[in-house]
Amino acid sequence: MKELAGKVAVITGGAGGIGKATAGLLAERGMQVVIADIEQKALEAAVGELSDRSLDVFGVVTDVTDFASVCGLRDQALERYGKVHVAFLNAGVAGFGRGQMWELDLKDWEWGLAVNVWGVIHGIKALLPVMIDQQDEGHVVITSSSVGVIAPTPNGGIYNMTKAADLSLAESLYGQLKNMGSLISVSVLVPPGTINTGLFTSNRNRQAHFEPETPRLQQPTLTYDEMLRRMNASGNPRQRVEPVEVAEYVVDGITNSTFWILPDKRHPDVQTNFDAIIKGRSESMLQRTDPMNYMQKAT
Ligand SMILES: NC(=O)c1ccc[n+]([C@@H]2O[C@H](COP(=O)([O-])OP(=O)(O)OC[C@H]3O[C@@H](n4cnc5c(N)ncnc54)[C@H](O)[C@@H]3O)[C@@H](O)[C@H]2O)c1
Repeated sequence: MKELAGKVAVITGGAGGIGKATAGLLAERGMQVVIADIEQKALEAAVGELSDRSLDVFGVVTDVTDFASVCGLRDQALERYGKVHVAFLNAGVAGFGRGQMWELDLKDWEWGLAVNVWGVIHGIKALLPVMIDQQDEGHVVITSSSVGVIAPTPNGGIYNMTKAADLSLAESLYGQLKNMGSLISVSVLVPPGTINTGLFTSNRNRQAHFEPETPRLQQPTLTYDEMLRRMNASGNPRQRVEPVEVAEYVVDGITNSTFWILPDKRHPDVQTNFDAIIKGRSESMLQRTDPMNYMQKAT
């Protein structure tokens, strides 16, 4: 999709972080942007801030875990702007209880799957029929993560699994649309490392029905800088990355129709690190060797 002006984007998880930064860039390029998020105050603030810059944005409170809510988002987007050209299925959560996989609370698994996987499925199911019927160019971006695409960490079981599922959804969707000669393309987004967003306080948006039945040990929320410091100390090198840097990748992915939105020369250290892990993982499969050789370090 080379030409963005006059077209319509729907962004889930658009009230903050990567989604909000992308909403800003797409609107600056002349798109009409529907920002969907569960966090009403943050959504109002984001819409207010972007509207004050004379950008054409519209907010819809949406819970991506609820299909009816996502259908409502689609209907409001169509009512407001008439079409949907870009679906950025980006809402996501992290911050589940830590511990051995067999000890994790089932509610943690359910919440992670509900937002990070069902949220994407609901977006595909609600928006793709509309986008296909339009017979116009379109693009779907699904946000995954290096731990779902490049290689997992041993301790991030729930998040890693959901983000691997997001890659799988993106690949199959890409293949099906190509096979039918569709004008809609698909990307999977792998942000360049650990981004300075609200992801690390995701529990602020955890719905009551996903709360664990047994009280869990509350871990202090780390600041972004403290988290980077700990990751670097644990041998998992990370540098500061702001959401707008990721948004630039997303816009490029849409306008160049690239499936893999992976770190490039803009983040050379991350690119080198990820490329080495990709090679290590491929080699491990080809040689049938131990996955500990390529797993990203635990944090
Ligand atoms: N921050 C990182 O380092 C990083 C790295 C790799 C991938 N990601 C992915 O990027 C995506 C965006 O996250 P972010 O880092 O910008 O964090 P963020 O918390 O700033 O943004 C996520 C948004 O999703 C919204 N959300 C949460 N639950 C929702 C629900 N049920 N329905 C609708 N919206 C909901 C939140 O309110 C928030 O605005 C996520 O999918 C995340 O997994 C982030």
